[in-house]
Amino acid sequence: MKGKDFLSVADLTPDEVRQMIQSAERMKRDGTGRILEGKVFALIFEKPSLRTRVSFEVGIRQMGGDCIYLSRDDIGLGVREPEADVARVLDRLVDGVVARVFSHRSLEILAEHTTIPVINALSDLAHPCQAIGDVLTIYEHKGSLDGLRVAFVGDGNNIAGSLAEACASVGMDFTIASPRDYRIPDIVWAEAKRRAAVTESKIAWEEHPTEAVREADVVYTDVWISMGQETEKAERLRVFSDYQVNEGLMVGAKPDAVFMHDMPAHRGEEVSEGMLEHPSSVVFDQAENRLHAQNAILAELFSR
Ligand code: NVA
Repeated sequence: MKGKDFLSVADLTPDEVRQMIQSAERMKRDGTGRILEGKVFALIFEKPSLRTRVSFEVGIRQMGGDCIYLSRDDIGLGVREPEADVARVLDRLVDGVVARVFSHRSLEILAEHTTIPVINALSDLAHPCQAIGDVLTIYEHKGSLDGLRVAFVGDGNNIAGSLAEACASVGMDFTIASPRDYRIPDIVWAEAKRRAAVTESKIAWEEHPTEAVREADVVYTDVWISMGQETEKAERLRVFSDYQVNEGLMVGAKPDAVFMHDMPAHRGEEVSEGMLEHPSSVVFDQAENRLHAQNAILAELFSR
């Protein structure tokens, strides 16, 4: 790990991403050990959460640690007091910070003003814990990662960007189908490209979902309207209307392709009514693997 924090997939070298998947798989099989005994974490959530909050709380407790949940109303990050002040107070009182924020910059400020690890539990730019869990899920279902093709259909958002970086890190090809104006941000795309050059994988953008999913091993989608984008709802429903993952689109993928979604899923929008229950769906394995991936990340950060 590059530094003391885990804010994006880019904090791990491509080799370290692979090692993290192996470590998560091992911890899932053999248990975690109580490596966080006596450690207390602040869990800052500016936005709602089911999977991330529960999996972090469960994982930290499994490893012998404890956590304090702090909602937006509790601390008013950047509103009631500046992020840098919150950071310096928490630095004196707890052993680690897990934070879900609106602006990725808030995470960077927390990281800059603490000596303890800060972990990204989702920002507008990245969701690296999700991406590590997702690669673990793909590995479990496919038995290997080499040469697999991952197709993401929808918004070039935090989920898509971190997944692109993670796929490129482990040598999987990644294609996103998104409207032209909703592509993955340049800074994230450039990092994914750099990694793809190292692992000799391919990173591509397509405008049309059918092109992206052709012969794919994995078809992935996420909400069209992320938390914080509610005012753009009408426009986004219109722009993304051709980007639904449904049974018809899946026909273009490989016959044994898996369907993935980080959830919450909006049936009738980015996914058809039946996709979560489709035989190809592995969405609940994904949800469970958040726990194992994060346990591996915590173990890496706190075993040094
Ligand atoms: N892109 C979604 C992911 C939710 C887990 C959001 O940011 O709201």
